This record gives sequence, C-alpha cells and structure tokens, in this order.
Amino acid sequence: MYNKKRYTKRILYILFVYIIIFLNLFLYSKKPTAESETDRFIDSLLVRMTTEEKLGQLTLHRGGTLLSLNSLVTDNEKELIRKGKIGAMFNVFGAEMTYELQRIAVEESRLGIPLIFAMDVVHGFKTIFPVPLAYTCSWDPQLVQKAAQIAALEATASGIHWTFAPMIDIARDPRWGRIVEGSGEDPFLASVMAETQIKGYQGDDLSDSRTLLACAKHFVAYGGAIGGRDYNTVDVSERTLQEIYLPPFKSAVKSGVGTIMSAFNEVSGIPMTANNYLLTDVLRKSWGFDGFVVSDWNAIPELIIHGVARDRAHAGELAINAGVDMDMIGFIFQKEMLDLINTGRISETLVNTAVRRVLKVKYRLGLFDDPYRYCDTRRESSEVMNEGHIEFAREAARKSIVLLKNDQKILPLRKDLKRIAVIGPLADDNDSPLGSWFAAGESRDVISVLDGIQDAVSSGTTVMYEKGCDVEGYDESSIKKAVNTAKNADAVVLVLGEHYRMSGEAKSRSSLKLPGIQQKLARQIVATDKPVIVLLMNGRPLSVTWLAENVPAILECWFLGVRMGSAVADVLFGDYNPGGKLAVSFPRTVGQVPCYYNHKNTGRPASPDKTKDTARYIDLHITPLFPFGHGLSYTQFKYNNLVITPCKIRSEGSVQIVFELENIGERTGDEVAQLYIRDIVASITRPVQALKGFKRIHLTPGEKKNVIFELPVEQCGFLDREMNYLVEPGIIEVMIGSSSADIRLKGHFEVQKS
Ligand code: BGC
Repeated sequence: MYNKKRYTKRILYILFVYIIIFLNLFLYSKKPTAESETDRFIDSLLVRMTTEEKLGQLTLHRGGTLLSLNSLVTDNEKELIRKGKIGAMFNVFGAEMTYELQRIAVEESRLGIPLIFAMDVVHGFKTIFPVPLAYTCSWDPQLVQKAAQIAALEATASGIHWTFAPMIDIARDPRWGRIVEGSGEDPFLASVMAETQIKGYQGDDLSDSRTLLACAKHFVAYGGAIGGRDYNTVDVSERTLQEIYLPPFKSAVKSGVGTIMSAFNEVSGIPMTANNYLLTDVLRKSWGFDGFVVSDWNAIPELIIHGVARDRAHAGELAINAGVDMDMIGFIFQKEMLDLINTGRISETLVNTAVRRVLKVKYRLGLFDDPYRYCDTRRESSEVMNEGHIEFAREAARKSIVLLKNDQKILPLRKDLKRIAVIGPLADDNDSPLGSWFAAGESRDVISVLDGIQDAVSSGTTVMYEKGCDVEGYDESSIKKAVNTAKNADAVVLVLGEHYRMSGEAKSRSSLKLPGIQQKLARQIVATDKPVIVLLMNGRPLSVTWLAENVPAILECWFLGVRMGSAVADVLFGDYNPGGKLAVSFPRTVGQVPCYYNHKNTGRPASPDKTKDTARYIDLHITPLFPFGHGLSYTQFKYNNLVITPCKIRSEGSVQIVFELENIGERTGDEVAQLYIRDIVASITRPVQALKGFKRIHLTPGEKKNVIFELPVEQCGFLDREMNYLVEPGIIEVMIGSSSADIRLKGHFEVQKS
C-alpha cells in the first residue's frame, strides 16, 4: 500500500513535469520566423553546393559596357552561367535578354540558383532625372525619393534587380569629377539624401518586383582623394572620417540598404578592399549591416598595385578576410580562391558566410520564388518612360535649378520679347543634360536648352542661335558671329560650362575655370551692353568669378536630365520660381580648395582686415564665391520671431525651434529654411556651423507660415578624445538662415549636466 501510494505519487509527479514542459513548449516556442525560414532554405542549398558553385555566387561579371549594354553576352558567358560560375551580372538589361540569361541559370545550371542583374541606375533608368548633385540642390527629400522610385520602377520593368546607387561620398574638392554623382559637401544633407534614395529604390519590400536593391557606395572616404584626383590616396584623420565621411553610410545602413560597395582608395594606409576595421568592425559589428559587400571594379587585383598583396591569391585572401563578399570583374574569387581553399589558406566557413549573405539577398528579392518576376515585357513597354515619369522629370529639373544672381530683377524674362539670342556651345547639346551614368537614357529623348526656349516663347518672338565657340578648344572664329547676333537681340541667354564628359569617374580637373575660350566669348557678349543671362551647365562648382562680377543674372542648371530645356525655360520666363540652394560651396579660384562651410574656427579665423595675421590668403577674399545653401528667388522671404523651447535642457529629449517665414514679394515661391548650430565651447573644437535641419516651404505672396524644427539634443553631441559619442553641457548657438552665409535669426539654448 505504502509502495503503491509512492508509485502513484511518482507517476503524478512525472506527469506534472511533462505537462509543464509541454505547456512551456506550446506557449513559448516561437513560430518559425521568416529569418529562420530563409536560413533553413539557404543552409539546405549550401550543403548541396560544390566549392566552385559557391565561388560562382561571389562573382560578378559584366554583360556589356556602359555605352553598349548587353554587348558582352557571349556563348562563353552563357556557358559560365550554366556551370554556376557567375552569381550576378551587370550592364545587361531588357525583359527578354534578362529572361534568357535567367532561364539558363535556373533551368540549365545544376542547382538552378537565379542570377542578380545590376546596373548603375544613378539618377534615372531611361527617364533621366537631374544628376544627384543637382537634385540634392532641390533640398526636397520627397522629390529625390520619388525620382529613385521611378528609376526603380523602370529598371525593374527591364529586368534589373540591383542598382549601384546611391553614391553618397562627401566631396569637398570640386576638382574631383565624381562630385557630380553625390550629394555635395555636408554630412547631414547627404545622410538625408542617402536615406530617401534608399527608401525610393528599395521601398518597404524588396521582393516586390517594382523595387530595386540599392548599393551605397563607395565605402568610404573616396571623395577625400588628395588633390581631387580620382582614385588617389586618401589621408583623413579618424575624427574627419567619423564626423564627415561615415555618417551618410551609417544612415544608409539604418535605412536598410541591401548592399554596400567598397571604395578604390586607401584609408590610413589600408586599401578599402582589404580594410577589415571599416568593412567588418565598423560596418557589420558596430552598425549591424547584414547585406553583402561588393568590391569596386577590379579593385581586388588592384590590391597588388596598391602594394599590399604579393599576388592575386594574396589579394583574394586579404579581400575576403576583410569582409568583401563579391568580386566585381576581378575574377579572383572565381579563380584563385579555389586554390586558397584547397590549400587551407582560406577556410570554407569564411566563404560560406559570404555565400550566405549573397543568397540571402537573392531570397529577399524573391528570386527563389519566381526568378522571372522582373522580366515582364508588358510592364517594360507600358512603364518605361511613360508620360507621368517624363512630367516628373521636368518637375525635378526645375526644382533643382539654383538662381545664383539676379541683379535689378533682370529675370524672369518676358516671353514676348522680339528677339532672343541663345548663345553658347552647350545650348543645343542634348547629350550633356544626361550627365554622368545615364543607364538606358538616350540623347534623342532630351529637350535641349535651345529647344526648351524655342518651345516656350510666344509666336512673335524670334530665337536666334549661335554656338560662339566650342566647350573646349581655342578656335575663335565663331565669336564674331555670336556677338553680331547678340547685338540684334533684346536679351541674350548665354549657355556656358562643361560638357558632361568633363565630370564623373576619372574626370578630375586641375582648373575650375570655364574650359576653352568660353570666358572670352562671355566678355565680348557682355560688352554688347545687352541684358545677359548666363545659364551654367556643369558637373562641379566652377570658379566663375568674372561672370559673378560682370553678368547680372546667373542660373546654375547642372545637368538636368531629359526635360532640361523645358525646365530651364519654365524658370527663365517665370512659369516657375526657382527655389534650389547649393549643396556645395563655389570657390573663387581653385587655390581656395578645399572650401566648405562647416570648417573649424582656428585660433586666428580669417578676417577681411589684411593688416591682421589670420587664416586667409593675402590675395583673395575670405569668403567663397557662392556659399553652401545659397540660392535666390524671384520673390523675397522674411524670417521673424524665433522661439526656442526649452532654453535649458538635459542631454536627452529635443528642443523645439519655431519661427515665422513670410513671402514679402509678389510671386509665389519656395524657400529652403536652414537650421545650423554651433557648440560655442567644447572639449573638442567644433565647426563654426553644422546643418541640423532644413525645410522647403511653398508660400504665396503675403503668406506666412510657422516653421518648426525639432532638434534632438543628441544631435548636438560629438566624439570625445577617446572617440566616444557625448553630449557635453554648454551653450548651443542656433542659426536660422536662407543660406549658410545669410543667417536671419539667431538664438541659443543650454545643455545642462544630466
Ligand atoms: C565605379 C562604380 C561603378 C562600377 C560599375 C566603377 O568603376 O567606381 O561606381 O558602380 O564601376 O560600373
């Protein structure tokens, strides 16, 4: 009896334990997450892959050149796809072509792993928008996001899954030709633009066949090339790296960017393709980036030329160890890496990690569900360059134009002038508006400046065109004819600048002057005493000091895309009131470079007083020709009643900055109100101004609006001596301006000890 009782008790106890375990399992076991499903799928694939097939996934080939897309798709390439030796291809496009290549990958390769198709879709696919430096001058994140969204729609309709964009390199040196591809000199503005472009490309769901995988490039400090010479050595302090060059990439990672491209340059003696600290410690461990890293073009073999790798195998070893997952065009991961694994120099586990990252992105794109989801000929014919996209290209273009100068309100022009002379080599150029990286864009789709003006004027107006001279070159024979035409006109529109081939990759210049004899042409046209308006078309800030001093009106137009001419005409004739602001400072001469607004004060700040020994040139004004944030309007804006609350705050929470903005002119227009701060006394020297907010506001004549900025106090911090982020107690000066040099309202608040 005693035993039986004990026995029953024991059984009950065991039953109780089982029930508890069961309940625990039932209640607390999580449903398999999407993440774990993806991992399981990838693991099941990985175990079936040969080492060669794994390396194939880490290999990016090209199927064409920029100017001749698809032209390099040969039988040999197809055979490599069949053998699983290629994981991704770029410069191939078109629903039919990509379908055929994908079919080979999926139906004829052993494991049927789909390919990713990539392209440099940087500012539009076929509907080309303003170059990124230009659309950043709109200071309109929604606009930039929509441009990226349309680019994604068009590219994906043509079979593309992946764009090598956004380019988010900070550039403080306009000699560097790639300044045209980025968002200018300021880390805050560039971070906002990075975020919005990524949102535009990737949307909320990468598996949606209308969204495009983004690639933030070039990680990192590529824009810091010494002397502005592309690919040159970069020599930046850890502080400048952290405060200026890294923030846009951090913002990209926060925005969920799927891939990152490592840069060509070195940082602190270590080429980025081999830079473990930045690619792994910072990017992955500290920021939690979970996509894959692709090398830049041939950058892995170039480690030999940098002088850090003995041979190709060593270069591959350095790159994969540093955190590069995919080899663009270097063919080292495809070839030498196999031997490295077989001889044990590289562990297969390391390769598996990289393959896993690539496959995960393919999974996120939905390619394992339906590898053909992006190859849709119907979408391709209805969505690429449709009317809505073209109309938006015009909107984006006119919002990007910056009115640099407008003396005596010479602009806008009347549409019924009898004769308008359009002069200058770039006026009837319909290649240049496409700028650098025009993907599938074509010059036949471009409305040139001349065409735009001709379309806009009234029937009674004669538009006379003379080239005057070439963009480059020294032939003066056409100047006289141009001058005579100007003499016969009521107003002259002089279109000057650089050809699109003068900026972009490997297009650094040692001079920032107008090339060729364009200034000579300008002098002679101005000497006619006719009202002259200069339109600048260029991919970098130019030091056009003579023009700024001698021409009454200047519009910075950059390269504005397929509707450049219509947008320029909208602004010239006042159908649209320009509201763009410079995303980069214009130096007076190349000798003033680097010239950026967020500099330090120094112990002897530059003073106009030449009798004092200060941080200035003895032969130059201390200010830039046109400052960061500068841009005029056909109307005027008044800033009033700045209120900052609270005036004392601890190192958490936000400060509210409110002021009134009023249109006191006679035209409707947009003003970009800019918020700058300065930490007056800190344990580390701080910039004299740092942009922390901006808003583009539309106001009708007489209209007033309250503008509100919420400034998180966290944004007023900096890295201390040990490079730890801290918000230090002290006074923060608040500056509200129409540009960095045109501050209209000032106030301050105090950060108190927590
Ligand atoms: C450029 C990259 C570009 C790649 C592919 C490289 O030369 O630096 O920006 O994405 O080519 O076209």
